[in-house]
Amino acid sequence: VIDAVPPAPASASGFGGSPHFTSVAQLDLPTVERIFSVADYLQPIARRQWTTRVLEGAVLANLFFEASTRTRLSFGAAFSRLGGSIIDTTGFTFSSMAKGESIADTSRVISGYADAIVVRHPDEGSVAQFAEATNVPVVNGGDGAGEHPTQALLDAYTIQREFGRLGKGIDGSRIAVLGDLRYGRTVHSLLRLLSLYRGLSFALFSPAGLELPASVAEHARAHGHRVESVASIADALAGADVVYTTRIQKERIPEGQAVELSPDWQLRRELLDAHSPADVIVLHPLPRDAREGAYDLSTDLDGDPRLAIFRQTDNGVAVRMAVFTELLGVSHLVADTLRPAAWSTPSPLRPDDPAL
Ligand code: NCD
Repeated sequence: VIDAVPPAPASASGFGGSPHFTSVAQLDLPTVERIFSVADYLQPIARRQWTTRVLEGAVLANLFFEASTRTRLSFGAAFSRLGGSIIDTTGFTFSSMAKGESIADTSRVISGYADAIVVRHPDEGSVAQFAEATNVPVVNGGDGAGEHPTQALLDAYTIQREFGRLGKGIDGSRIAVLGDLRYGRTVHSLLRLLSLYRGLSFALFSPAGLELPASVAEHARAHGHRVESVASIADALAGADVVYTTRIQKERIPEGQAVELSPDWQLRRELLDAHSPADVIVLHPLPRDAREGAYDLSTDLDGDPRLAIFRQTDNGVAVRMAVFTELLGVSHLVADTLRPAAWSTPSPLRPDDPAL
């Protein structure tokens, strides 16, 4: 049952004075905390106990010029659960951009069709260009190796919720970050976002050649956080409250850059048992690469309560709903059309799923 007091009216100015949400640089801590409290408020709708029609009549254009399953469907589910509808396009080959259309023209055209636009594009900076050509709110769904700001929000939101259960706060925590830190845009956005908190310590462990860009590490240090590259997965796990694992972004590694993949940095249950505090939580933006020799997050942790990856994807819907209601200035109107869901709410699939 939704029993929280409806949130205060949203400011009409979006995030950081922009109608768009293209970078975590637009966020300050009060804005992040507000998005999280709106997401908490919207959880019963994301979990299909309640419905709202606050965005009835609104249309989202979901433009994915690069591979995606969860991000596209999660944005689509979020907008639909607010009562809106979706138009979308996927892939580059089938878009007019393949005919040479500019980002600005595409952006202007879609502005006549939709009330919000989500864009994923393989080129860094392209989503910001898309936003410059429209007044319709644009949300960055990932721009090349650049940013993925809603993923960072849902990652930090998951950390906050998991910590809430464990009686911890984000300030002062230690975060191990593993995998492709160079091309993994979720890591870039998450570290910038977490830099808004106080006194964190980041332990980084990546294959040679896939180290975190110096600008991201410097940004965190400039905000008073510790950032250290460590020599083994065991060192990264020691004392870490959160382990954030990532996939090697093979599609972004330039031809000719040799990267040696090794089981040494695959996160497996035995490593967690041996080196991590008992209440550690394991996150991954997903997808994890399940192919042999990929050495991504192992499946041997499946079903283990420390593995929070599906709680993380579930949280993504509520967080993206909050991003939409805040950007469109309707958070305070959600309650006007609240109704219990007419169908029965699905029960948890596995013991480590959150109670619905
Ligand atoms: C990530 C992405 O696309 O940046 N996935 C996601 O959006 N959850 C991570 C990845 O592709 O490895």
